Amino acid sequence: MDRVKTGIAGLDEMLNGGIPAGRHVALYGGPGAGKTSFCFEFLYRGALEGEPGLYISLEETSEDIIENMKSTFPMLKDTASLVEENKLEIVKPDKLDLEEVANLLEDRITSNGIKRAVIDSATMIRMSFATEIEYRQTLFEFLSLLRNLDVTSITTVEANSARREEMKFDIEHFVMDGIINLYNIDREDRRVRALEIFKMRGTDHSRDLVPFKVTPQGFKVYVGEKVF
Ligand SMILES: Nc1ncnc2c1ncn2[C@@H]1O[C@H](COP(=O)(O)OP(=O)(O)OP(=O)(O)O)[C@@H](O)[C@H]1O
Ligand SMILES: [Mg+2]
Repeated sequence: MDRVKTGIAGLDEMLNGGIPAGRHVALYGGPGAGKTSFCFEFLYRGALEGEPGLYISLEETSEDIIENMKSTFPMLKDTASLVEENKLEIVKPDKLDLEEVANLLEDRITSNGIKRAVIDSATMIRMSFATEIEYRQTLFEFLSLLRNLDVTSITTVEANSARREEMKFDIEHFVMDGIINLYNIDREDRRVRALEIFKMRGTDHSRDLVPFKVTPQGFKVYVGEKVF
């Protein structure tokens, strides 16, 4: 099976080599959990390996994302040049419309050969629907469209609770090929960041809850360590 290496330190080991190619993963997390940074690094690492990526941002402008990522990851020095060379494109569509997102993806696959895509966030799209049923139908259609494209994607979803034990299942849990959860775990006097691979169709993977850090060099997932 072909795999797409996330390039995120420690994560590919947990995934037994990477995300199965062509699959579509949801990245869950509460506010500030690190979703945008995680997705950015996924595209950045791919772009460095010659796999162009497209970041579809439905919330922040591309300028804001670049600015934030430069300050979060000061050691990822190629950000500006990768963006300039179109190996890492960040787009904010005018409308919150899955059809527009799909068209954008199709266009960039044809014109730019993108291999990795990020959609940040599904929650923004969900909010644009009057009813849950409409959102479900459109999400199903969108995913079947995605499956016909030669691209591996990560879509962020705002978790309905930052607490692991209060996590409820959403529609995205069932339709996506993989689920990665980012947590901000409450400890007495601090919060600890932790990650788990909740599901990943088509591959064995670690099921451990492991600590991670956002460092100037990128994410660091501490495989084999416990969350204290
Ligand atoms: N240089 C840095 N070093 C360590 N942590 C940082 C650094 N820069 C940002 N952070 C942390 O990363 C968090 C933001 O991450 P990010 O924007 O990726 O989260 P998010 O899940 O996308 O948030 P949101 O729900 O607001 O979209 C900040 O709240 C901050 O705690
Ligand atoms: Mg974000």
